[in-house]
Amino acid sequence: AAAEIGVIGLGVMGANLALNIADNGYHVAVFNRTAARTEEFAAAAGSLGDRVTACATLEDFVAAIRPPRPVIIMVKAGEPVDQQIAALKPLLEANDIIIDAGNANFRDTMRRFTDLDGSGLTFIGMGVSGGEEGARHGPSIMVGGAEEAWNRVEPVLTAISAKYQGEPCAAWLGENGAGHFVKTIHNGIEYADMQMIAEVYGVMRDHLSMDAETIAAVFSAWSTGPLDSYLIDITADVLMVHDAATGRPIVDVIVDAAGQKGTGRWSVIESQMMGVPATAIEAAVAARSLSAMRAERAKAHKRFGVPGQQNRREGQLVVDDLEKALLAGKVAAYAQGFAVMAAASREFGWNLPMATIARIWRAGCIIRSRFLDEIATAFTETPDVENLVLSPAFSSMLVETDPYLRRIVAEAALNGLPVPALAGALGYFDTYRRERGTANLIQAQRDFFGAHGFERLDADGEHHGPWGGQG
Ligand code: 6PG
Repeated sequence: AAAEIGVIGLGVMGANLALNIADNGYHVAVFNRTAARTEEFAAAAGSLGDRVTACATLEDFVAAIRPPRPVIIMVKAGEPVDQQIAALKPLLEANDIIIDAGNANFRDTMRRFTDLDGSGLTFIGMGVSGGEEGARHGPSIMVGGAEEAWNRVEPVLTAISAKYQGEPCAAWLGENGAGHFVKTIHNGIEYADMQMIAEVYGVMRDHLSMDAETIAAVFSAWSTGPLDSYLIDITADVLMVHDAATGRPIVDVIVDAAGQKGTGRWSVIESQMMGVPATAIEAAVAARSLSAMRAERAKAHKRFGVPGQQNRREGQLVVDDLEKALLAGKVAAYAQGFAVMAAASREFGWNLPMATIARIWRAGCIIRSRFLDEIATAFTETPDVENLVLSPAFSSMLVETDPYLRRIVAEAALNGLPVPALAGALGYFDTYRRERGTANLIQAQRDFFGAHGFERLDADGEHHGPWGGQG
């Protein structure tokens, strides 16, 4: 057997991952459920073909790989992964490693670890980010499983990963579901980043009456400042592209209903389960769901119109304010995402390395940015900080940008412009920074109707209110 590794599933991501592996000097065996796709892949492999063994059957595929075999599965998350594992299991031998590289729900990954326990096979749940380009030329790779298994595949995974100033963006993050959990939170943050960018785009388009090209120039300028990131770059690029059929900016002919495949929603579900607020991410997921209700929104528009036109004060808002507001929102989204990971790390006993996570997100992945380098530094300098916003660097960033976030959210509210993720970020800060909150009233209400009890500021123990029989 000539191959050092195998890839199952030759969709765009799997095919590009296989080419990336071959490109890095490894011999790779490939297999796809539909043989035609495998042949097509082999035919298109070009000069890399020498290092690719295209297999028509799963038996041939397994036989083509030198044991102990690392086998990457890159198929649709969910049921197809279980089917693939079931098909592979009888063909593999002790110490072979099955690596699920899809966007799996980490709870499925945890279950698969348990299922494979005692089978002699090793399992790795691996988050891969970077889209098609990343898969082909260097993704960010988040690995969960036994550290010993990681040690065996580390050379090939670091070889194919993105590099940030020479440092590979691939790391072992913890046992079992750690890699897929971190990938899920990456996607949750990705949702928040994208939503907040869309919100400031909306302010520019609908409030400042700027056209796509003018907005593109703004994003372009921002990409040389603190917001410098892949998502800001592609936003500028996307806004510049014109539709061939109509000659209009392509964004102006695209339907305003966003899809979602689940990772964003899972990140919110998991954060809620652990009682860790992720308001910017929650708002981003909800905004995608609302975006999909087009017919209902059209009805509501007819019924209510667009509010706040009387408050229109053109020129009040300046584009520079939007940049700072977006930065403040970004601080919230990342602080929340990292807080969710910290809680999960405790809950599942992973000991997630926060600075390393930030480091392997600096290149290759969709949320790659200058900002992540600053997060890596913050977690290196203050590894035990309870929340990113309490680290010295991010406290200063927040103090500087908070007034702009406040102004934008207020102006947007007065003008009926939806900015739910930015508003969620602001609400989070304003709640987080207030020592005396309002939950004293909630506690009184709970005690009144359900005798739930409350604590007093001036005495220990549980107390009940003097509701005088009304409660
Ligand atoms: C990445 C992306 C990638 C993909 C997700 C999100 O990190 O490369 O997150 O995994 O875009 O599937 O998809 P949805 O927006 O469709 O939920």
